[in-house]
Amino acid sequence: MALFKKKPKEYDKSSLPKHVAIIMDGNGRWAKKRSLPRMMGHRAGADALRKVSRFAGNMGIEYITVYAFSTENWKRSDEEVSGLMSLLLEYLKNAEKELGADDVRIRVIGDTSRFSDEIKEQIVRVEKLTQNNTSVTVTLALNYGGRDEILRAAKNIALDVKSGLVDINDIDEKLFSSKLYTDYMPDPDLVIRTSGEMRLSNYLLWQSSYSEFYFTPVLWPDFGEKEFTQAIDEYLSRNRRFGGR
Ligand code: IPE
Ligand code: IPE
Ligand code: MG
Repeated sequence: MALFKKKPKEYDKSSLPKHVAIIMDGNGRWAKKRSLPRMMGHRAGADALRKVSRFAGNMGIEYITVYAFSTENWKRSDEEVSGLMSLLLEYLKNAEKELGADDVRIRVIGDTSRFSDEIKEQIVRVEKLTQNNTSVTVTLALNYGGRDEILRAAKNIALDVKSGLVDINDIDEKLFSSKLYTDYMPDPDLVIRTSGEMRLSNYLLWQSSYSEFYFTPVLWPDFGEKEFTQAIDEYLSRNRRFGGR
């Protein structure tokens, strides 16, 4: 069934990145520029996410993983954190209406134990409801930190060694990757960060070892189809060598 209405620029699917990871940054500055409260920037950011996921799915990208809340974002004011939690809840409640209808599978990575029961329930509900959708997997990284993820994997493997389930000599990159939150997806081919910041901010540290990076000064709420296409075109012009020649 043709599930997407708008058809973006045609690409040869085999050359497209399978997995695009996005650091959605600049919501606050977007609001500030307009003399609006920061939450308005986050709202505009959620709209941009809905549009970009549809567009990328339509283009033929299989996995999109977006950084929505980091393990460090709890440091923000109580007002901003609780505003973000309300927005998250609202997003999850409407997610299948916005995305599920377009055959999007929604997954969440990160330590969700710190969220309210209501948010946790919504995560379970949305993941279950969209689990058989096949066109694109949109993963929300929530209370996610790359170091936290690596530590968890290490502890997990240590327990398996201790209980005799795993032999220490069998610990390799494949086994380690299988203990990460991202066990169901390939490593990101392309990592996009908006708003002009050029750092990873603890995102997908293990997984991005050979990713291509694309930085743009565009603030996340202004990032749309045109900007996404530009990032893909730039990616297609890169020469990936993976250490070979
Ligand atoms: C990104 O926008 C969204 C989150 C981190 C939740 P910011 O809120 O970081 O926006 P800036 O960086 O302050 O402009
Ligand atoms: C990274 O953005 C986290 C998310 C986009 C969710 P931040 O705005 O939190 O990162 P820093 O503080 O500028 O490094
Ligand atoms: Mg920021």
